[in-house]
Amino acid sequence: MKPPSFLFVCLGNICRSPLAEAAMREAAARAGIEVEVDSAGTGDWHVGFPPDPRSQAVAARHGIDISEYRARHVRGQDFRHYDQILALDPQNLRDLRAIAPSDGTAELTLLMDHVPGRAGYGVRDPYYGDESDFDAVWGDVVLAAEALVKRLG
Ligand code: 4NP
Repeated sequence: MKPPSFLFVCLGNICRSPLAEAAMREAAARAGIEVEVDSAGTGDWHVGFPPDPRSQAVAARHGIDISEYRARHVRGQDFRHYDQILALDPQNLRDLRAIAPSDGTAELTLLMDHVPGRAGYGVRDPYYGDESDFDAVWGDVVLAAEALVKRLG
């Protein structure tokens, strides 16, 4: 049987969604649950690039190496392949809805809608921020990943 599959999507796929991907891999591994996980961007400026050094640093502070991740653009087949596509912020969700093919089967939701008390909130774009903004992203995506894994258990 195909494991449950999750695609995390932000704008550039270099700051937030790679951290969501890493947090989900970690939470699922800790729970001993097999999942398929990837991340992508609604924009294509950074395709092929590794995560932002500040995202790599916050992951490393939590013992996770994301240096091999490479940014990619979200594609039509993602909407048929993944069970769930999780948008990091409301604009990402609007952009995903605008490009979703009519035969898409993936459930499209806002990531923080899965965290009690955080429904409707986006994970703030840290691109023009500093280390503390990346720490905040990590805190958000860990909460969401734990909530998603809990539902699988
Ligand atoms: P991300 O962050 O969507 O979390 O990967 C951004 C990365 C790049 C840009 C904006 C946000 N940019 O404008 O290039």
